Amino acid sequence: MLQEKTVFLSFNSQEDLDSKACQFIMERAELAIREKGSFLIVLSGGTTPVNVYKLLAKEQINFEKWHIYFGDERCFPLNHLERNSNIAGSIWLSKVNIPKTNIFIIPAELGNIDGSLSYEKILDKNKPFDLVMLGLGEDGHIASLFPNQKWDNSKQVISVSNSPKAPSHRISLTPSRLSNTEEVLFLISGKNKSYAFNQWKEGNDSPASLISAKNKISIMSYDLI
Ligand code: 6PG
Repeated sequence: MLQEKTVFLSFNSQEDLDSKACQFIMERAELAIREKGSFLIVLSGGTTPVNVYKLLAKEQINFEKWHIYFGDERCFPLNHLERNSNIAGSIWLSKVNIPKTNIFIIPAELGNIDGSLSYEKILDKNKPFDLVMLGLGEDGHIASLFPNQKWDNSKQVISVSNSPKAPSHRISLTPSRLSNTEEVLFLISGKNKSYAFNQWKEGNDSPASLISAKNKISIMSYDLI
């Protein structure tokens, strides 16, 4: 079931979605920096946000007050190209003036258990994020939280050892930590996500239905239905 305070936006092209998502993120950053002096954002992995990250890399704005976190990470070696932090790092974070000390990558090279324990200590549970970005997998997973799996929601970060989406070992923020945020932005594109989205809408078992936000959840979609 979609949480109340969910705004669903459907776009006519991927380019339009990407451009609006980039603008949306920058607006939230400006508001957070004006109100609190910093902008804490959780990046989503996978391919859907890639063009949004590329657009952000072109923006001539001051990124100094942005603090970057990750919703999940794949347990690969530090420089592996398929790590979510390296995907965002190579196309955006390395090209703008975000201080390296403001980028909090998940140390998945330590392995799923040690890496999750380490990231648990890095996150301050009393400090809500300003914006959490999430994708939606074809099977309905978000971050590395998969349907029909159990996790300790009293933690902020968990280890995953049986991910149906390779690699099997991953690290993920929990639904409770992903929901400890002012806003959530889902980016969902492609007919191959329709089934998962409808399952979520109809209230069937879906990790996405566990996500809430203090203010609003926005879903930006293209070619979904
Ligand atoms: C990952 C991602 C994952 C992703 C969805 C959607 O590490 O794979 O965090 O949760 O967001 O699988 O992926 P696509 O955007 O590539 O469809």
